[in-house]
Amino acid sequence: MFIRPSEPRDYQQMADILDAIGHDQEAWDYRFDADVKPSFPSWVALDGQRVVGMIEGRFDGDYDERFEQRDHPSPQAWIYLIGVRSGVRRQGIGRALLRFFTEQAVQAGCSFLALLPDQSDDDVPDRVAFFRACGLVPLLDDDPNDVHGAPLPELLPKLT
Ligand SMILES: CC(C)(COP(=O)(O)OP(=O)(O)OC[C@H]1O[C@@H](n2cnc3c(N)ncnc32)[C@H](O)[C@@H]1OP(=O)(O)O)[C@@H](O)C(=O)NCCC(=O)NCCS
Repeated sequence: MFIRPSEPRDYQQMADILDAIGHDQEAWDYRFDADVKPSFPSWVALDGQRVVGMIEGRFDGDYDERFEQRDHPSPQAWIYLIGVRSGVRRQGIGRALLRFFTEQAVQAGCSFLALLPDQSDDDVPDRVAFFRACGLVPLLDDDPNDVHGAPLPELLPKLT
């Protein structure tokens, strides 16, 4: 398995993964004509030619004031999408994608990473367990399933 930036030839497989997960199709644009550039950078995990996982996010985010990080002024990193094919989960692909994204975020000059675990189905505890196992912590006291994040220098050692 290796990870590289996504290319137009990957978009259909990325869309298939996101479709299977049940992600709202309004939230991503990999099904569009390959000439249309997706809105945010993304990376794919490959097993041969097969896309087995993907991650999408940005390194120029402004955090909402609800979870503003005063010690980490914007721009900071934010993950929109992460997904692994259902047949190959629990093999470390999700963690590897998160580590890759974290390394890219450091190179882009960020010092903090955050994300909102998808709240749209009954699998919230599972995905929160994944993010916690990877070293992210809840940023809001009143809801432990809401936004998670961590300073990158603390996160990276937990992902290696
Ligand atoms: C969440 C997801 C990306 C994790 O990918 P993955 O490749 O299966 O995760 P990893 O194998 O790297 O897991 C790393 C650790 O996270 C934890 N973890 C992962 N999935 C878990 C689950 N379903 N329940 C509890 N803990 C879990 C475990 O501690 C795991 O280590 P272990 O297998 O040695 O015990 C994947 O399950 C997925 O695509 N889910 C559907 C889409 C989704 O929910 N995306 C997140 C949207 S915000």
